[in-house]
Amino acid sequence: MTTTISSPKRLRGVRLLPALARDPVEACTRAALADGGLARLRIGPIQVYVVSHPDYIRRVLVTNAGNYTKGRIMDGIRVALGSGLFTADGALWKQQRRLMQPAFAHTQRDHVASVTVDAWQRRMSGWETSGPVDLLAEFMSLNVEVILDVLFSTSIGPDRTRRLLDLSDAVFAGMAKQLPAFVLPGWVPVPGRGRYRQAVADLGAEIHAIIDERRAEGPRGDLLDSLLEARDPESGETMSDQQIRDEIFTLFMAGYESTATSVTWTCYLLLARRPDALGRLREEIDRVLGGRVPAVADLDQLPYLGQVVAEGLRLYPAFPMYFRSATEADQLGERTIPAGAQLIVSPYATHRDPDYWPNPEEFDPERFSPEADSRARRTAYYPFGMGQRRCIGEPMSLTIALLTLAALTQRFELTLATDRPARGRYAMTYQPRNGLPTYVTPRGQPAE
Ligand code: HEM
Repeated sequence: MTTTISSPKRLRGVRLLPALARDPVEACTRAALADGGLARLRIGPIQVYVVSHPDYIRRVLVTNAGNYTKGRIMDGIRVALGSGLFTADGALWKQQRRLMQPAFAHTQRDHVASVTVDAWQRRMSGWETSGPVDLLAEFMSLNVEVILDVLFSTSIGPDRTRRLLDLSDAVFAGMAKQLPAFVLPGWVPVPGRGRYRQAVADLGAEIHAIIDERRAEGPRGDLLDSLLEARDPESGETMSDQQIRDEIFTLFMAGYESTATSVTWTCYLLLARRPDALGRLREEIDRVLGGRVPAVADLDQLPYLGQVVAEGLRLYPAFPMYFRSATEADQLGERTIPAGAQLIVSPYATHRDPDYWPNPEEFDPERFSPEADSRARRTAYYPFGMGQRRCIGEPMSLTIALLTLAALTQRFELTLATDRPARGRYAMTYQPRNGLPTYVTPRGQPAE
C-alpha cells in the first residue's frame, strides 16, 4: 500500500503511515504547513485533504459551508453519537440546532459557575498533598460532575455517576482504537469494534433509563428538561426519545473531556514554559479576589486569566482536527477539491502557522492582550470552530475553564512531577499522553 504526502516541500517522499500512527495531529500539521495550508494525503486508494490556511478554512466553514457535510470519517463516531448535533447534517442538524439553542441560553452561566465552584471545593479539599496528583484525571472527574449536574441536576446519584464515567471511558477508548479505521468501509473487520459497539449500547441504555425516569418523576429544571420540553417553532413537534438520547450522549461526550483537556494543557504550559506568566496570573487573582472564592462576576475583572486560557486554546485546541466531506467540487486557492473528497480541518495547524503567529510554538498570553495586533486572532484562531457549526457549549466551557484555573492558582503551589516535555495522544481530543502528574501544596491565603 502506498502512503505518501502529495507534494509538501519538507516532507516529500516521507512515508506517511508511521508518522500518522505515531501522532496524527503532528503529522497532519507538518503536512499542511509545509504545503501552504492545504496538503493532500494518500493512504492507498484513500485521499484526504488537510486544510489549515485561514482563507480556505473560512471558505469551508463559513462562506461555502453549505457544500460541506460532516462526512464519512464521522461514520465511526456516529456509531456512538447517532444523529446528535455534533454529527448530524442538513435539515435534521438545522432543526436540532434551532431546538437546542434556547436550551443552552437557559443554561445560565451563574448555575454552571456555582456547580463548578462547589465541585472544586469538595475535590480540592480531599487532595492528598504528599504525592503527585494527576491534574488531567482530576479535571476529567470534576468536569464529569459539572456536566452531569447541568444535564440531569443532582438526580442521578454517585453510583450511576461512576457507571456513566466508566462507560464513557470505554466509549472513548473504543473510539480512539477505531479512529484510524474510520476511513475504511464498515465491512472491513477491525479489532475491538464489537467491544466499542457494546460500550455504546450500554451507555445508550443508561441514558434511555434516565429519560424514562424523568418522564415518570417530572421536571427538575435542568438541560434534560429543556430538551424534553423543546418544541420546533414551525412544526410544534418535540424530539423523539431516540433523538434526546443522541443529544444527551453528544453533550456528555463533547462536554467534559474537551474542557478538562484544555485546562490541563494550559496548566502544563504555565508550569513548564512560563512560570513568570503563572506569577503574573496569581498576582491578578490575589489582587482581585483576595482570599475570596472566585465567582462568575469576577471573571470580567480578570483579563490576564482570559488571555492565558485563550493562548492555551491556541496551542492546544481540544479538537485539534475535525472532518468534512465536499458535496460538489470546490476551489481552494489553486487547487480543485473533487466532489466527495474527505477533508481534515486543522485548527492545531492554523494556530501554529508562522505566517500568522510569530514564534508559534512559544506560549505567550500577550498575544491576546488588547494592545497586541489582532489580525491573527481575528483570522487564524478558531478553537471552538467557525460559522454555523460553531460550538454550542463555548460559553459553558469557558466559564468552567476560567473558574477552574482561578481556583487552582489561588489555592495551590504547583510543581510538575517530571521535566520531560509532555507529548500528545489523539483520541478525538488531544491529551497529554501520560496525564499531568503534579505536586500540589496549599498556599497561605492572601489577606482579603
Ligand atoms: C474547551 C472546550 C471545547 C472545545 C475546544 C470545543 C470545540 C468545538 C468545535 C471545534 C466544534 C465544531 C466542530 C465542527 O465544526 O465540526 C464544536 C461543536 C460542538 N460542541 Fe464543543 N467544544 C468544547 C466544549 C463543549 C461543551 C462543554 C459542550 C456541551 C456541553 C460542547 C458541545 C458541542 C456541540 C453539541 C457541538 C456541535 C455543534 C453543531 O454542530 O451545531 N462543546 N465544539
